[in-house]
Amino acid sequence: MSIEVPNYISNIDPYQGGKPIKEVAREIGISEEKIIKLASNENPMGISPFAKKALKNALSEVHRYPDGNAYYLKEALSKKFFLDTNQLIIGNGSNDILELAARTFVTRGDQVLYSEHAFAVYKIVSQAIGGDGIEAPSANYSHDLDAFLSLISDKTKLIFIANPNNPTGTLISKKILKNFLSKVPERIVVVLDEAYDEYLEDSLKSDSFEWLKDYKNLLISRSFSKAYGLAGLRIGYGVAAPELIEVMNRVRQPFNVNHFAQIAAIASLDDENFIEESRSINNLGMKQLTNAFNALNLKFIPSYANFVSFKLEDEKIAMMYYHHLLNNGVIVRPIANYDLPEFLRVSVGLQRENEIFIKYLSNCNI
Ligand SMILES: Cc1ncc(COP(=O)(O)O)c(C=O)c1O
Repeated sequence: MSIEVPNYISNIDPYQGGKPIKEVAREIGISEEKIIKLASNENPMGISPFAKKALKNALSEVHRYPDGNAYYLKEALSKKFFLDTNQLIIGNGSNDILELAARTFVTRGDQVLYSEHAFAVYKIVSQAIGGDGIEAPSANYSHDLDAFLSLISDKTKLIFIANPNNPTGTLISKKILKNFLSKVPERIVVVLDEAYDEYLEDSLKSDSFEWLKDYKNLLISRSFSKAYGLAGLRIGYGVAAPELIEVMNRVRQPFNVNHFAQIAAIASLDDENFIEESRSINNLGMKQLTNAFNALNLKFIPSYANFVSFKLEDEKIAMMYYHHLLNNGVIVRPIANYDLPEFLRVSVGLQRENEIFIKYLSNCNI
């Protein structure tokens, strides 16, 4: 190619998402209704009926630009979580918040810290701006925050922590996290990615919004893609000190979040029952899956989210299982790109979906 692309861009490993249902239907020749997607940690229950109704009503407003300031969504979030609206920034998915953090606080040659086996987007958004992504070694598949502290240097500008982490599902306790925050120099922005927070039982949640009073360098990101079921609309949000939000807003695209996404998110926030039910179906499904792994003598990483990664003998066998499941219409996710080549990650589905996954997992003759 005659166009010169910076090395740090050509070195990016593209993000590998879960295979879409339509793609599998095309490739394998199975009808779409027969395919079960357990590959992207989506909510198998769909979306709240409140959101469905709001979306139908919003159709007549689609010729207008969305509210670039997401006024009503910020108002709804601030009421629900006792925050000021100037502590909030809305993103086109929480990935947008992660990227905005990198674009706002990092320049070429700066260091960004994240964990081994942590969510892939941290590396991509750091590399995309010429940042130097540094992986802290993990401990037992989980974040090792002492390893993070020992890697901090004058060049460190940003730290990403996923809690729970994807694809390992591991959780850092609030005590350990808070202690970590107290040791990170104030000049470094810490992004606490809580995309799966709604799946945690209350006693395990970090109450991280409370910490914002003490830590002006803390940015919490949340998603509407997981428990709220709005993955296809792309919406998430960030919470931080107003000074931090203000600079991120300078970098944000003016209309980054579409009208439907805003309307659906506002309606979803009112439907506590839907989140409760999603959490309880997820807990039951997680038991169903882990019981099956135990019965089949398969190791897995205990998970606090809506997915679980299980271990096969090696990468070759993991890919044989993956293809066997795929050929039978069950989509899961290989995670070799997370340096976990002998693992597959499966999202928790509805009981019937989990049963079908377990059936094909059990009858894979390898
Ligand atoms: C840990 C983590 N953070 C953030 C995201 C991004 O989610 P979204 O951009 O859909 O909000 C994901 C998606 O899989 C995730 O696993």
